[in-house]
Order: sequence, then structure tokens, then C-alpha cells
Amino acid sequence: METEKKMTAEQMTDRDLSEQIKKVTKDSHVRAENTKMMLSFQRGQVTLPQYKLLLCSLYEIYQALEEALDRNSNHPAVAPIYFPAELARLQSIEKDLEFFYGPDWREKLVVPAATERYCHRLRQIGKENPEFLLAHAYTRYLGDLSGGQVLGRIAQKSMGLKSDEGLTFFAFPGVSSPNLFKQLYRSRMNSVELTEEEMNGVLEEAVRAFEFNIQVFDDLEKMLSVPENKQQRSSGSKSVQDRTLQI
Ligand code: HEM
Repeated sequence: METEKKMTAEQMTDRDLSEQIKKVTKDSHVRAENTKMMLSFQRGQVTLPQYKLLLCSLYEIYQALEEALDRNSNHPAVAPIYFPAELARLQSIEKDLEFFYGPDWREKLVVPAATERYCHRLRQIGKENPEFLLAHAYTRYLGDLSGGQVLGRIAQKSMGLKSDEGLTFFAFPGVSSPNLFKQLYRSRMNSVELTEEEMNGVLEEAVRAFEFNIQVFDDLEKMLSVPENKQQRSSGSKSVQDRTLQI
């Protein structure tokens, strides 16, 4: 594996998927970093209600993403970037939700409309265009292994948590060096053979993946800022109004 990493680091070119995807999502990344939710994280101002609500959405998103990846684990565009032992987040998020909401956390999940739309897209491409999963897995997992690492430590301080409890989402015990792992991941992305049309589709889907994330953050912020008696019900989540009261 070590050789694989070194060779591909030297051989990477501008035409590689890993370079192109980073380039086309650069502006989206800046926009994502500057959402109110992400600014709260960076400024050390994230609150418990914000974080709990975010965890609910992340639970839904990773459930859809990881189901789609599992289902397509042998697909030629998915197999090279399929790293469930190192990357899977669903169980970590479940642990965190249980910590914050208690054993009946499943009944307390709040799923805003933007999260539903993101998950719908993940399920749809899992069935119709599995190669687009490359774009979604990249957006979430490489993000979690990059800025996410710092954000976890900041969140712990902001919420005054004494241990790592509630923050399992940020920990990757199966990844000893996030930087080396990201190099390996990029080289695996570059090993996927894609036609020009598929490549363009994946790049477009990556921009869309960032957009979905931005909408999720904005939706959550809206829910947190609107007084509960004025909240609109989001589609697909019948009791979003009532459940917000419990956060
Ligand atoms: C990479 C910071 C939010 C997705 C990075 C890197 C940093 C960073 C420092 C490493 C850049 C590099 O290695 O060149 C942050 C901060 C954020 C944030 C401070 C918000 C507070 C997000 C969000 C997403 C995201 C919301 C997507 C949902 C990514 C991806 C990469 C990345 C996919 C890998 C880029 C690549 O190497 O191709 N981020 N990020 N980030 N981030 Fe973020």
C-alpha cells in the first residue's frame, strides 16, 4: 500500500479525477465553510441544540450514503473507494445520538426537508448511477478527514464536553494518518476508469453534493432561529415542529 501511495503522489496530473474534483468544488467549499452553521463551529460557538440537530441530519445522510455504497461495493467505480472499516460513520453517529438523546433516540430524530432531499438523491443514484457515489463519498469522507478533525476538537470545547462522548462521529480509529489515507483515497479515485461523459457527470455531482450539504446547514439554522410556534412543517417529517421542542 505504501508503494501505491508514493507512486500515485508522483504520477498525479491535472487531468486526474482527484485534481479536477478539488478544482470544480473549490468555490462550493468556500461557501460551505461560510454557512452560519460552519462559522459557529470555527468560532467555537457551536451550541448543543445546533450539534444535536446536525447529528440527526448526519444520521440520515450516512445511512443513505453507506447503504448505497454497501449495495454497490462491487461496482467498478465504487470498489476502489469502498473502505467501510476505515470510514463508515453510521455506528459512530448512533452512539452519539444515544449519548445526547437517550436510548429512545430513534423516536426523537428530526429530519428537515433539505436532508430528505439529499438522502433521496443518494438513494436514487445508488440505484441508477452508482458511479456518482464517488462524488458523494469524496465530499463527505474527505471533508470529515480534513476540516472535520479540527472541528471535532473545537466542538468539544464549545459544548463543554468533558470526554469524547458524543463526538465519536469525528474519530476515525481505523485511520492512523488522515493525510496518508487521503493520498491513498485520491489514488484510488484516479484508478477508476471513466468515460469523458461519466467524468463530467461525477464532477457535476460533486458540486451538487456540496450544494446539498449547504442546504442542509441552512435548513438547520432556519429551524433553530424560528420561534417554535412559527415553524413550518418540513415535508417528510411529520412531527418536526413538536420534536424541535425537545432539543
Ligand atoms: C478539505 C477545512 C467544511 C469538504 C479541507 C481542508 C481543510 C478544510 C483545511 C484541507 C485542504 C487541503 O488539504 O488542501 C474546512 C473547514 C470547514 C470545512 C474549516 C468548515 C468549518 C467542509 C464541508 C465539506 C467539506 C461542509 C463538505 C460537505 C471537504 C473536502 C475536502 C476538504 C471534500 C478535500 C479536498 C481535496 O483534497 O480534494 N477542508 N472544511 N469541507 N473539505 Fe473542508
